[in-house]
Order: sequence, then C-alpha cells, then structure tokens
Amino acid sequence: MLAHHDRNVGVSPLRAAIVGTGGIARIHAEALRSLSDEVELVAGVDVDAERLAAFGDRHDVALRYTDLGKMLASVEPDLVHICTPPGLHHAQVLACLGAGATALVEKPPTLSLAELDELAAAEGADGPWVATVFQHRFGSGARRLQDVMASGALGRPLLAVCHTTWLREQSYFDVPWRGRWDTEGGGPTMGHGIHQMDLLVALLGDWTEVSAIARRQARAVDTEDLSVAHVTFANGAVATVVNSVLSPREESYIRIDFERATVELTHLYGYGDDDWRITPAPGHKEVVTAAWAAGDAGVSSGHRAQLAHVLRCLREHRPPPVTSADARRTMQLVAGVYASAFERTPVTPADLAAPSPFHAGMSGTGPRW
Ligand SMILES: NC(=O)c1ccc[n+]([C@@H]2O[C@H](COP(=O)([O-])OP(=O)(O)OC[C@H]3O[C@@H](n4cnc5c(N)ncnc54)[C@H](O)[C@@H]3O)[C@@H](O)[C@H]2O)c1
Repeated sequence: MLAHHDRNVGVSPLRAAIVGTGGIARIHAEALRSLSDEVELVAGVDVDAERLAAFGDRHDVALRYTDLGKMLASVEPDLVHICTPPGLHHAQVLACLGAGATALVEKPPTLSLAELDELAAAEGADGPWVATVFQHRFGSGARRLQDVMASGALGRPLLAVCHTTWLREQSYFDVPWRGRWDTEGGGPTMGHGIHQMDLLVALLGDWTEVSAIARRQARAVDTEDLSVAHVTFANGAVATVVNSVLSPREESYIRIDFERATVELTHLYGYGDDDWRITPAPGHKEVVTAAWAAGDAGVSSGHRAQLAHVLRCLREHRPPPVTSADARRTMQLVAGVYASAFERTPVTPADLAAPSPFHAGMSGTGPRW
C-alpha cells in the first residue's frame, strides 16, 4: 500500500471511487464527470450487485466491488465518496483513512459527536482527511455574503431566521434506514435541516446556547418530525431555527438582519445567485449595494461546487472542506437541539462534551414520546 503522500496527489487526474450507488451517488458521479480534467471515477462499491452494475454501466465505471476493503486494497484511490446510509459512514470512513485515502462523506458524517471525534483523530496532519458534504456553503451567494460581512459593509448581524420546512410523506420512511436513531441518527434536524443549519453556522460562527422543542407530531417514525429552536451566537446574533418534514408548502429559508441590511436566501434544495435578496437599511443603500454587486457570482450551490474546492485543496495538500472541525460545529448544534429538547433546558457546547449522553448519540437520554 502506498502512503498517502506518495499517492497520485498533484499529478492529473486524481482517482476517485464511490461507495453506495443509490440515490445521491448519481449527483456525485455527475459532479466527478463535470470535473474530469482533474479527477477520474475509477471504481464503484455496493453490496447490491444489481444496483452496482446498473450504476457502473450508466456512469462508465470500470472497476466494481461488493466489498469496500477489497476495493481499497486493489484500487488505492486518492478520494472515496461515501454515499451509503448514515449508520455506515463511521466504519467506512475509518477504513478509507486506514488505507490512506481521503474520504468525502455525505451528511450527516456520523451518527454522533463521539464518532466524529474518532474520525478526526484518525486523520493525518498531511492527510488522509475526512470532508463532509455540506454543499450550500459553496454557491457564490454564500461566499459573496461572507466577503461582504468581512468587509464591514453590513455591520453586526443581529437576528437570523433559518427554516427547513419540507414535506416527507409516510411512504418516504419505507426505506429501512430512514426515521431511526440507530441508522439515520435523527429526524429533520439531523437529516434535512442540517444543510441550512450548516450554512447558518458557516455564516455566523460559534454558537453559545440553544433552547429547543422537538416533537413527533404526525409521522410513524422513531425520531422527531419537527424541531423548533432559538440559538445565540458568540457574535451576539440570535437565530430561530425550524426543521420540519410536515410542511406542504416547502421552503428552505435563511434571513439575517444586519445593522445596515437584511439578507435573505429562499430556495428548496439548492440556490443560484437570483435566490438571494438584499434590502439595505435607510441611509445605507449606496455602500451596501456597491459591496454586494462587487462580490462573487455565477456559481450555484451543489456537489459540483464543493467538489471543485475539495480537489483544489487535495492538490495543494490542504485539508479539504468541509473539514472535520467545521462539520463538528454544525453536528454540535444538532446535538444541542436534541439535548435541549429532551432535557428541557438550555444547552451550551460545553454541556455536550463526553460523558454527556448526547455526545455518545443524538438521542442521548431519549425522547419523551
Ligand atoms: N447532500 C445531499 O443533498 C443529500 C441528499 C440525499 C441524501 N444524502 C445522503 O446521502 C447518503 C445516502 O443517501 P441515499 O438517499 O443515496 O441512500 P440510498 O439508500 O438510496 O443508497 C444507499 C446505497 O448504499 C448501498 N449500501 C448499503 N450498505 C452498503 C455497504 N455496506 N457497502 C456499500 N454499499 C452499501 C445500498 O445498497 C444503496 O445502493 C445519506 O447519508 C443521505 O443523508 C445527501
């Protein structure tokens, strides 16, 4: 086996594999193909041989395996996309890291903070690394907002709204791994709203306290089907966060009221530049509008946008985004929502350190329904 730093990193193209050839794998294969000057999809892995064959034929994947260990040993990929159900991520990422391959793992990266800490501990200083798919960080709108915030043109963030109000009928939960703590790690807080919460945390930074309610209101599942939280941030901003799979008019919405403007993002599963809206406060129109117009543009959020950043970092021998440290801040907020809801008390990040039961698993001491 080659050590990570001896691999083909730095010489074109990188060699990638996809593990789990179900629903989301297609988006990964398309992103890889669109960046084929830089990366080649050389192998696929799935325990379902029929699904693997159909996927391999459709996406022109030469090497096919029903066993991850065998693939890692014989293919020695640079990058492995983990597209399996969440309960498998921890062991599969560890296998990749152990074989010297960087893992790009679908959200949620693990079922718990404890598992995520184990992955971070298994990374090498010079790789291999684990990166989590949180694709909403990578559209030009989010990057533009980060730049304009850093320029000081918007003033302080005061108030935020972060809603993931989606609809998932009962039949959606027929897939055996969905709606269960032991295989999905949670309901819409962990599985759906995590994208918007990740973007909120990427924009507003460290959170300091969360108070939440989680309910199982209408679906026959183990987990919650809605949560409502308020969150304070170290920079003083206060946010309301709503995560639902019960909402007939579906929407993903983030709003931040700064001193000098309101910034809004309205979309469903991904956004372009036109999905952002900025409303300057009276007296600040010229400066705010000029700063906004000068920002990054032209990139939709999505797997391709994130993969482009991942590949660049691998070439430059830097940890690819979203790093384990950044993903942890978001996973900690998810754990905080559950801990606050189930313990009926406000929760800080420090409350979630081991030996908190919410460090060991998102359901912690368990829901009271
Ligand atoms: N980023 C996003 O927007 C987004 C969207 C949808 C799903 N996801 C995430 O992607 C992941 C997969 O979701 P999905 O909807 O594609 O699931 P899926 O059930 O459609 O596909 C999972 C695949 O993994 C295979 N598999 C199961 N056990 C395996 C093993 N031990 N080794 C190899 N393959 C195995 C299954 O046969 C199946 O083909 C989940 O973590 C989910 O949360 C992310």
